[in-house]
Amino acid sequence: MSTIEIKDKKFALSIPESEIQAAVRRVAEDINRDIADKNPLFICVLNGAFMFAGDLMKTINFPCEITFIKLASYDGLYTSGTVKEIIGLNESVVGRNVVVVEDIVDTGITMERILESLRAKGANSIRVATFLQKPDALQREITVDYVAMKIPNDFIVGYGLDYDGYGRNLKDIYTVIE
Ligand code: IMP
Ligand code: MG
Repeated sequence: MSTIEIKDKKFALSIPESEIQAAVRRVAEDINRDIADKNPLFICVLNGAFMFAGDLMKTINFPCEITFIKLASYDGLYTSGTVKEIIGLNESVVGRNVVVVEDIVDTGITMERILESLRAKGANSIRVATFLQKPDALQREITVDYVAMKIPNDFIVGYGLDYDGYGRNLKDIYTVIE
């Protein structure tokens, strides 16, 4: 099995690129089917979702806009429970149909914050597309419309997700082993 080291941790390959790409394509095709006529605004949540958003958007085949917000909640391996807004939204979402594009829904605290904020800003409809979800870690009642892959409650890196800033560039997903 292929393993890597990042800082003080070892990680083992858990989801290869081919599976990731197939799962992302499935989500994009579902979105193409569902909202092609809704002139949506995609909102990519930086930093983690940059790779998912990049691949996803290549398969989206209707007119749409994409913009970016930046939040941070993780401190090393653990979610800190507080969500910091580092770059906010420039576009108006009043009356818009938005799709939040996230790397992972873990506890759901970050997504709850984003959804509250978009509702308060007057979005007409809000959908959530996440690359990964850890169903066993969910602590908030949020609806996730599109999930590429569900994973166990283990810490992972790769495909945009980091350990202490590193590992985002990996094209496969790795799970922490020690
Ligand atoms: P939540 O607020 O607990 O749902 O956490 C969401 C954020 O934590 C995600 O957007 C990720 O950036 C980060 N995160 C959650 N789980 C992991 C993981 O296993 N590896 C790296 N980052 C993670
Ligand atoms: Mg994130």
